[in-house]
Amino acid sequence: MKKLMIIGILLLMLVGCGAEAGEETAVPTNTPTDSGMGMGGGMGMMARHMAPIPEDYAGLSNPVAADEESLARGGDLFTTYCASCHGDGGMGDGPAAATLDPAPVAIAHTSQMLGDDYLFWRISEGGQGDPFNSAMPAWGSALDEQARWDLINYIRALGSDTAPSMGGPGMGGMMGGRTYDPAAEATRQAEMLVQAIEQGVLTQAEADLFAEVHAELEANMTRGMQMQGNMGQMQAALLAQLVDLGHITQAQADQFNDIHTRLLEAELMQ
Ligand code: HEC
Repeated sequence: MKKLMIIGILLLMLVGCGAEAGEETAVPTNTPTDSGMGMGGGMGMMARHMAPIPEDYAGLSNPVAADEESLARGGDLFTTYCASCHGDGGMGDGPAAATLDPAPVAIAHTSQMLGDDYLFWRISEGGQGDPFNSAMPAWGSALDEQARWDLINYIRALGSDTAPSMGGPGMGGMMGGRTYDPAAEATRQAEMLVQAIEQGVLTQAEADLFAEVHAELEANMTRGMQMQGNMGQMQAALLAQLVDLGHITQAQADQFNDIHTRLLEAELMQ
C-alpha cells in the first residue's frame, strides 16, 4: 500500500512539474536544438555545469556531517523523491529518465566535482529557466534545509568507493538502474580517448596527458578540499592544489584545461 502511495505521489509530481513548466515559461522544456545534439547534449551539459551560482547560494558549505544518521536520512529521501529519475544508484537511469530531455544527470558521479553551494542551489531551485530548462523539480519548499544537505551527503557517498551506504537504506530500492562503478568509468574514458584520437581531436600524447592528470584528479578529489563552486571552479581549485603539492606541473594543468575544453566542444565528454 505504502509503495503504491509513493508511486502515486511521484506521478502527481511529474505531472505537476510538466504543467508548471508549461504555464510559467514560454520556452518549451524540450527544445529541438537540445535533442538534436547527439550524446544527450554535451554542450548543454557544459553550460549547466559552468553556470554561475546565484549570490544567495554562492559560498554555502554543508553544515551537516556525513555520518551514518545523515546518510540514512538522505537514502530514504533519495529513494522517495529522486530515484524515479536519477535511478537507485544515482546514475541518471531511473524509470522516468528515458522520456526526459535533457536527461537526468548521473549525480553520483557529477556531485564529486560540484560544490556544496552548487548542489544546494540546484536541489533547492530545480531546472526552471536558462541554462537548465529541465524537468528537475525545485525542492526548496518541500524539503527543509537539513533534508537537502542529507541528500547531498548521500549522493556524494553513492559515487565514492568508500561509500558505507552501498547496500544501505537507499540502495536496493524499487527504481533500479546502475550503481557507480569506477572500473566501468575508466573503461568509458579510455574508449572516449580512442574516439578522440580517431576523430583528430587529440594526439596520442595529449590523450596520455589527459588520462594521467585525470587519474591524479580522481585520486585527490575532495580530499581535504573546500567544496564550493560549479564544475569549472572546482576543477580549477583542484588542479591548483595538485600543482601546489607537486603532483603535476603548471604547464600540465594548463594543457589539461585546454584538452578538456576541446573534448567538451567535440561533445566527446560531459
Ligand atoms: C522528474 C525527474 C527528476 C526528479 C524526481 C529529480 N531530478 Fe534531479 N535532475 C533531473 C534532470 C532532468 C536533471 C538534469 C538537468 C538539470 O541539471 O537541471 C537533474 C539534475 C539534478 C542535479 C544537478 C546535477 C548536475 O550534475 O548538475 C542535482 C544535484 C539533482 N538533480 C538532484 C536531485 C535530487 C536530490 C532529487 C530528489 C530530491 C532529484 N534531483 C529529483 C530530473 C529529476
